[in-house]
Amino acid sequence: MSDIIRNIKGTKDILPDEAIIWQYVESKIHIFFKQYGYSEIRTPAFENTSLFKRSIGADTDIVSKEMYSWTDQGGNNITLKPEVTASVIRTYIQNSLGKINPINKFYYIDSLFRRERPQKGRYRQFHQFGVESIGSQYPEQDAEVIALAYNFYHYLGLKNIILKINSIGSKETRGIYKKKLHDYLLPYKKDLTEISQKRLDKNPLRILDTKVNFEIDIINNAPNIVDCLNDDDKIHFDNVLNFLNKMNIKYSIDNKLVRGLDYYSRTVFEIQCEQLGAQDALCGGGRYDNLIENLGGKSTPAIGFAAGIERLILALDIKKYIIENSPDVYIVSVGENAIQFSIKIANMLRVNKNFIVITDTLRRGLKSQMKEANKLNSKYAIIIGDNEIKNNKATIKNMSDGNQETVIFDNIESYFNTIK
Ligand code: HAM
Repeated sequence: MSDIIRNIKGTKDILPDEAIIWQYVESKIHIFFKQYGYSEIRTPAFENTSLFKRSIGADTDIVSKEMYSWTDQGGNNITLKPEVTASVIRTYIQNSLGKINPINKFYYIDSLFRRERPQKGRYRQFHQFGVESIGSQYPEQDAEVIALAYNFYHYLGLKNIILKINSIGSKETRGIYKKKLHDYLLPYKKDLTEISQKRLDKNPLRILDTKVNFEIDIINNAPNIVDCLNDDDKIHFDNVLNFLNKMNIKYSIDNKLVRGLDYYSRTVFEIQCEQLGAQDALCGGGRYDNLIENLGGKSTPAIGFAAGIERLILALDIKKYIIENSPDVYIVSVGENAIQFSIKIANMLRVNKNFIVITDTLRRGLKSQMKEANKLNSKYAIIIGDNEIKNNKATIKNMSDGNQETVIFDNIESYFNTIK
């Protein structure tokens, strides 16, 4: 036998037992996010590479190291989406959605690609749900988006979550901070990694994302962005915190939190879950008041977050979420004639009664079909063999109490009317 072909490193198959949990989580996202007035939006799997360079930023880890990009047969530079925000803003601008509504609130569930080092909770193809609210500059909008994320985890029963929040100020504030940070890091330049040396002049903020230990030591004593906030930034941040207090949302202010994407301004936040270990960030987001203008749209404030679905599922107590999926009826059919009846009855019960009906397609014997009906936890078994065909009746067995009745083929549907 030739070698089998395996999935690509960093990708993951979702087999049926786990898919039930995904369906559960996804159905809750649809219900919960609509409660806050958000509508679903879907964007293509790939975009022009320039979209991500201009939004996430060319110096970020995502754009400089992790994107799946290629030139297609027509010479276009294309990238598999590493995140959703840029695509949502692209379509918002392209379709002039701001002219139709002064405020646009979207949610999404999507599949993303980043060539990171795979480990538990970190994949090369992963999934996010998230929201983008486009149009409001006010702190109550920040509070709504943060509450949505925070309350969703509570709604799913997740405990031990930690909300970390910070303000990285307006564009002007960050301009002042960049200079301060640059001046602080300059004496260490020769000690920095090659990539950090490059970032120092262009975008020193991105050095704060470093995972290299000796750089982390240097950064620990770096100036803090909060010390550069102007009065408007401070008022905005205080108001966001006040609104969170009013909703009893617990947070901790983390002045080191800057997020690894270039488009943020003012409020940034992350929700972490202690039990996840190294990859403990369940979700992250923030305001991005300059992004729409940077991508060629009319200056419009916005805020959003995105959350990893794989990490959420790792954090959930999976056994609790095994959803009742057992069949209503298993049709045990023995012999060619019985199969004819089985097909017809199964179709009738599925179409007319919306039952989950399983039929045997391996032509197994009575015993092994009954064993399968038990294994699947079927509520009823309808047994059709030569005897049943001769009498024009099926045997219906209630699998929980073992009671059996014979029912004329034509009366099977009405039989279930009385018991279900
Ligand atoms: P992000 O922090 O890059 O932000 O990703 C958000 C979340 O996606 C992370 O907290 C994590 O749960 C999950 N995630 C990211 N990378 C991976 C991976 N390789 N494997 C598994 N899960 C992963 C964004 O993507 C921004 N677009 C968030 C945002 C929306 N900001 C404003 N609006």
